[in-house]
Amino acid sequence: MTQEAVTVHVSSTSLKPALDAIGKAMDQRFDRLLQVPADSSAKLYDAMRHAAIGGGKRMRPLLVVAACDLFHVDRERALRVALAIECIHVYSLIHDDLPCMDDDDMRRGKPTVHKAFDEATAVLAGDCLHALAFEILADPATHEDPFARCELVTELAVSSGPSGMGGGQMMDLVAEHELYDLAGVTRLQALKTGALIGFCLEAGAIMGRVPEAQRTPLRGYARDLGLAFQIADDLLDVEGSAEAAGKAVGKDAAAGKATFVSLMGVEQARTQATMLIDQAIAHLNSFGEEADLLRAIARFAIERDR
Ligand code: IPE
Ligand code: IPE
Ligand code: MG
Ligand code: MG
Ligand code: MG
Repeated sequence: MTQEAVTVHVSSTSLKPALDAIGKAMDQRFDRLLQVPADSSAKLYDAMRHAAIGGGKRMRPLLVVAACDLFHVDRERALRVALAIECIHVYSLIHDDLPCMDDDDMRRGKPTVHKAFDEATAVLAGDCLHALAFEILADPATHEDPFARCELVTELAVSSGPSGMGGGQMMDLVAEHELYDLAGVTRLQALKTGALIGFCLEAGAIMGRVPEAQRTPLRGYARDLGLAFQIADDLLDVEGSAEAAGKAVGKDAAAGKATFVSLMGVEQARTQATMLIDQAIAHLNSFGEEADLLRAIARFAIERDR
């Protein structure tokens, strides 16, 4: 991924070259990371490759690179952190699609892992991508300072665990039987989706050894972006097309899940998402042009059709 490829102006249309570049960078790195061995684990690697290579918007990796760029972090190192968060994200999607969770057949325009392989392989492929994320972060090639590596590992563990994505997924399962109010849905979304997005921004600050006190704007940006991103996902579930999204739509209403859209209606949910994105961008006011990529990603998060 070249430096030029991520230098964009504040418009989501000009974000395309950056998204293409990060997509290629992730595909290349997953290809290297997941070389299929000639032994009994070959199927496991094939399943991980099926899920991780060729597909997805790669928005979290791009957020990591954009946040690292603010603090002049070496690009190769930033891409290692980007790969780690995408490992966690892909694992979460494999498990989210399982019959015991959302029971989905399509993901990123392809059959889900349990459909292309089998359920047991899908569980293991998810588990292994989860483990690989931490292996990547703990490697000295990610950062020479062991304190920084430890902070990355802790942050990713918290973001993906019971107080983060995992806890949010549990709340999402409960949402099938219990009706959450707006505060409940906000908490669900902040955990399920917001926590991993929060990691992306925090990781930039950790990689740049930015003191805690100076991380507030990035945390505010991440919080508002995470919420808006999930509202956009819920809107796509109601009004998007399965073809463009590469996954089934209409699932939330069918499962009777409370979302921002079910609680507020389509129009108000869209207004809320736009307001959150304006607020996310306002958190970056202390930054200049160097934060333009983050601004463009924020607009893209709610303008997307997949
Ligand atoms: C889908 O995430 C799951 C949610 C957290 C809403 P993305 O919309 O980022 O999925 P990909 O990576 O582009 O496939
Ligand atoms: C999944 O949320 C979030 C995680 C995988 C953590 P959804 O179930 O809404 O995601 P999609 O709509 O299947 O992509
Ligand atoms: Mg789900
Ligand atoms: Mg799902
Ligand atoms: Mg969804």
